[in-house]
Amino acid sequence: MYKVVEYRDVITSKDADTQKRYSMIEKLSRDFTIENKIALEMDRLLVEQLQLEHDLPASSATKSIAEKKTAKKSAKDVDEIFQELFDALKKHQGHPINEEAVRELVQTELDDIRLGFQNLNDEVKKVLSSQQQIIRYELPAAVTTSFRRPTIPTFQQIVDDVVLGNNVMLVGGAGTGKTYLAEHLISKIALGRQHITINCSQWTSPTEIIGGQTMDGYVEGKLIEAWTNGYVLILDELPKIDPNTAGLFNDALAKTKIHNAVIFNARKESFTKHEHFACIATGNIYPDKESVIYGANNKQDLSLLDRFAGSVYFIEKNPTIEREILQNDLVWSISDRMRTAIEELKYEAQVSLRFMQNARDSYNLEMQRLKTKAKGGVEASDGKTFKSTLDSYISTFTEIQQSNIKGKIRYTDLFSNYEYREFDKDKNAY
Ligand SMILES: Nc1ncnc2c1ncn2[C@@H]1O[C@H](COP(=O)(O)OP(=O)(O)OP(=O)(O)O)[C@@H](O)[C@H]1O
Ligand SMILES: [Mg+2]
Repeated sequence: MYKVVEYRDVITSKDADTQKRYSMIEKLSRDFTIENKIALEMDRLLVEQLQLEHDLPASSATKSIAEKKTAKKSAKDVDEIFQELFDALKKHQGHPINEEAVRELVQTELDDIRLGFQNLNDEVKKVLSSQQQIIRYELPAAVTTSFRRPTIPTFQQIVDDVVLGNNVMLVGGAGTGKTYLAEHLISKIALGRQHITINCSQWTSPTEIIGGQTMDGYVEGKLIEAWTNGYVLILDELPKIDPNTAGLFNDALAKTKIHNAVIFNARKESFTKHEHFACIATGNIYPDKESVIYGANNKQDLSLLDRFAGSVYFIEKNPTIEREILQNDLVWSISDRMRTAIEELKYEAQVSLRFMQNARDSYNLEMQRLKTKAKGGVEASDGKTFKSTLDSYISTFTEIQQSNIKGKIRYTDLFSNYEYREFDKDKNAY
């Protein structure tokens, strides 16, 4: 009855697993006079394996057998097989076969069976497939207008991040150009998108973020506006926000790149994301700790910081950009010399691009007045000058500090006698 008997001679040369199966079939079939389904099934499989091993390489043959075997024995079949086996045993009155021993034997064999997705029946497969979540990341086409690319080393990476739907954080000292970069260069010039800015501070309220009732009725939050209209949400000076308030961004910023993601406003109304929604935060520090120099910056929750992981850029002072923007090397070189002095003296202060621009504007006004002096009007030295701008800046230091800074920038030569007026504005003063 058992085909494998024909292979009795070759079995001894086979691997341990095959030999084990063969001996099980022998044990199961011994003394049986009626059909034993388990033994028959095992017999069929083993014969199939032995036949295949003649034609195919061992590994693929074993694999195909394993697949067939697992495919045959679904949980339901096994129960049925057990039942039939025990029924048969009961009918076999007075025979010394031990039910427990057979159960153990069969169980040992079944333990080796590994079920894969392909072995499940169609109904189960369908249910499991419907549980699978398809997450679609949107990669909106970047609308880039033609413009002169700023000489900011990481500029392209930041644009890429926004297009990919990554939240960006720009970190750097005061007046290094973070806000301008986010609002103007990235959002408007590079991507042609509108932006909406939340100027973060400890007073920033949930109303400004997700909306709320005001004296004038319900006002929608800026996060919701940006989300639905596809604006770039600029979180200016994010580290200054109260960490609890910042938590309101967590949900949305976790879904920046998820197509059609939904968030809720203060009235629990739902809003679907516009494909162009993006978020750029700026800050003087990376807010994973309190700052001594930038006192108003708070240590923010790690969950918020994780929303920006991989897209944090440190925007440092950049002399090339500064000179390009200022178009006045004289003002730049004096400002830069002062910045170096402050750094060397380890004073807690910044000489920002913003200051340099103000100094440059004063210089231009002063020079304008000098030129038109003949026509009357304000005396150049009575109005705002490069010197008065610098004096104002230096006056914020202590007296000792002032004299140290002045010493380092050759103040007396350059300013006491307005020597700088004689210099070419396109030339370095040093
Ligand atoms: N690439 C640029 N081209 C022209 N002007 C720029 C550029 N970058 C910055 N600026 C100017 O420099 C000044 C400082 O820039 P900005 O306000 O963006 O600095 P910030 O890093 O945001 O400073 P803060 O930390 O104090 O907010 C602004 O007047 C801005 O207009
Ligand atoms: Mg700023």
